[in-house]
Amino acid sequence: MPDQSVSLDDEDLAAQSAVKHLRNLKIDNDTVRRLLGEARTHNVWHQRDVSDDTLRSIVDLMQMGPTSANGSPARIIFLKSDLAKERLRPALTPGNVEKTMSAPVTAILGYDIEFWRNADSTFPHKPEVQTNYRDMPEASETVAFRNSSLQGAYLIVAARAHNLDCGPMSGFDNTLVDREFFEGTTIRSNLLCNLGYGDADRLLKRSPRLDFDTVCEIL
Ligand SMILES: Cc1cc2nc3c(=O)[nH]c(=O)nc-3n(C[C@H](O)[C@H](O)[C@H](O)COP(=O)(O)O)c2cc1C
Repeated sequence: MPDQSVSLDDEDLAAQSAVKHLRNLKIDNDTVRRLLGEARTHNVWHQRDVSDDTLRSIVDLMQMGPTSANGSPARIIFLKSDLAKERLRPALTPGNVEKTMSAPVTAILGYDIEFWRNADSTFPHKPEVQTNYRDMPEASETVAFRNSSLQGAYLIVAARAHNLDCGPMSGFDNTLVDREFFEGTTIRSNLLCNLGYGDADRLLKRSPRLDFDTVCEIL
């Protein structure tokens, strides 16, 4: 049962109305195919720039995906320059070097293990839900890793919604990346994601997915 004691302000009512309106919007099959159904992981890139404005817009959208208590632990460094890419090179597994060095952008997606420091702005009505993690560093790291992984998925979908292709990667040395890019911070690396306009002519057939009955149980 909804809590009848909660008093709603104008912003609450506006939020409710926005979501009711959403239900009337049509999600067409083409959009679904572009975002997830037929979109592919790319490894070969057209040499076409991705603007900083596009990256900002993608992140604005990514940030709207849900995280626990709105903790929003993901932190991203976008590598565009050759100089920045060279700093990453030693950390990459051999198979990931060429695709990364040639990508217009490589995102280093990390997570802030002290994400709760922003609780007053990200969960103002109940900041203690986040700040309780101050004294639980292990749990804090687990929560940050879990939610930043989700945000990585949101990043992929948001990038695709901006007509970009993605190449996520975990084949790299996290310790080296953390030392090179996050030294002296509370941020740790989670995954890398190349971004740009993929060369569809260089794709091979897709690997099969597991079927519903292998993956799921309905109880
Ligand atoms: C978290 C994650 C890590 C990955 N790591 C690598 C990697 O290190 N190197 C690589 O070439 N591909 C990597 N991939 C790409 C996957 O192999 C690819 O997304 C998967 O096979 C599905 O391909 P498809 O989207 O074309 O169907 C990674 C993907 C994800 C989501």
